[in-house]
Amino acid sequence: MSKQALLSPLVMGDLNLKNRVFMAPMTRSRADNPENAPYAIHVNYYQQRASSGLIITEGSQISKKAVGYINTPGIYSQAQVEGWKKVTEAVHAEGGHIFIQLWHVGRISHPDFHNGELPHAPSAVNPNSKSYTPEGFKETVAPKEMTLEDIKQTILDFKNGAKNAMEAGFDGVEIHSSNGYLLHQFFNNSSNQRTDQYGGSIENKARILFEVIDAIKEVMPENRIGLRLNPSLHGAFGMEADEETIPTFDYIVNKLNEYDLAYLHLSEPFTDVSEVEFLEPNIAKRYRPMYKGTLIINSNFDQQSGNQVIEDGLADAVAFGKPFISNPDLPERFAQNASLADWDQDTFYTPGEKGYTDYPSLEEVKVD
Ligand SMILES: Cc1cc2nc3c(=O)[nH]c(=O)nc-3n(C[C@H](O)[C@H](O)[C@H](O)COP(=O)(O)O)c2cc1C
Repeated sequence: MSKQALLSPLVMGDLNLKNRVFMAPMTRSRADNPENAPYAIHVNYYQQRASSGLIITEGSQISKKAVGYINTPGIYSQAQVEGWKKVTEAVHAEGGHIFIQLWHVGRISHPDFHNGELPHAPSAVNPNSKSYTPEGFKETVAPKEMTLEDIKQTILDFKNGAKNAMEAGFDGVEIHSSNGYLLHQFFNNSSNQRTDQYGGSIENKARILFEVIDAIKEVMPENRIGLRLNPSLHGAFGMEADEETIPTFDYIVNKLNEYDLAYLHLSEPFTDVSEVEFLEPNIAKRYRPMYKGTLIINSNFDQQSGNQVIEDGLADAVAFGKPFISNPDLPERFAQNASLADWDQDTFYTPGEKGYTDYPSLEEVKVD
C-alpha cells in the first residue's frame, strides 16, 4: 500500500475517484477533420491516460463562434458527440472518469475562423496576442463588443455544450473560465470596459459566469459541474491585472460556496508575480480557506510537491499537465517512484500519433 497522498482515493460529490493525480486540460489539436470531431486517436490517447483519478479533456469549443485554434474538437454537433462517446466509453472501460472542458476563446481568435467576421468579446479591445489560424500564426484584432443578445446566445451555447456532454457520456464538465479566454475576459478591467450589467462593478464582471453555471444546472447535476480559474494570470493571453483583479476572484470564489459544485480548479501563477504588488503569488494558500468544496490545484507540480500540497491541506487533488503528455501511466510511475519521461514540446499541437499516443507506459518500457 502506498502512503502517498496523491495516490489515495477521493470522493468528489457522488463520484469515487481512484486517486488524486488528475490530468489537466490540454489542447492537442488532433481533430483534423472538417467536423472537428474526436476520432480513433483521441480514443487511444485518453484511454492510455485512464488511470488518472480524473481526466479533464482539452478545451472543446461550444459553438463555431467559440473557436480560436485549428483542429481543436468541438462539443456542439452530433458528429462531435458521437466521436466523444467512443472516448468516454474507452475511459470508463478502464475504470476511469472524464470531464470535458467547455471552451469559448472570445477575443483570442481571428476573423479567418469566422468568414471574415470579428471574434466576440466583452469589449472591442485587441489583446495584442496571436491566433493560430489555418495559415499559421496571425496577429489578433480588436474584437466585436458582444451585444446582450450575443451574451444570451453564448450562455445557451454553454448549456447546449453541457447537454451534449451528458449525451456523450462524460462524468461532468469543466467550465473554462481561465487563461484569458472569454469568461476570464469579462472578469478583468483590461478586457472588459462595458457599462451595462456585465461591466463596471465586480458583481457585474462576474455575472456571466454565474449565469453560465445556472444555465448548465438546468441540464445536468450541479455536483458534476467544475470550473477553472487562474486569478494571477498577468501579461499573457492579453491579460493585464490591476488592483481590482484579486478582489474580483475573491468575490467569485466566495460566491461559488453558494453552489454544490464538483470542484474548483485553480492554477498557481504561470509567471513570477511576486513583484506585482496587487497579485497573489500563493493561490492555494489564499483560496483553500475561502472555498468550502473540492479544490484542485495546478501548475508546475511534481510528485513531491503534489504530495506535499495535499498533505498540507491546501488542495484535494493536483492536476498535472505536461507530465501526463509524456507519461500516460503517471499514477503508476508515482507509485513505483519511477523516473518520468520528458515531453517533446515540438509535437504538442502537431497532427497525428507522433508525440500524442506513442509515449510508452512503464510496463512497455521494461519489455522493450
Ligand atoms: C500543450 C498544452 C495545452 C494546453 N491547453 C489547455 C487547455 O485547453 N485548457 C486549459 O485550461 N489549459 C490548457 N493548458 C494549461 C494546462 O492545463 C496547465 O495549466 C499547464 O500546462 C501547467 O500545468 P503543468 O505544469 O502541470 O503542465 C495547456 C497546456 C499545455 C502544455
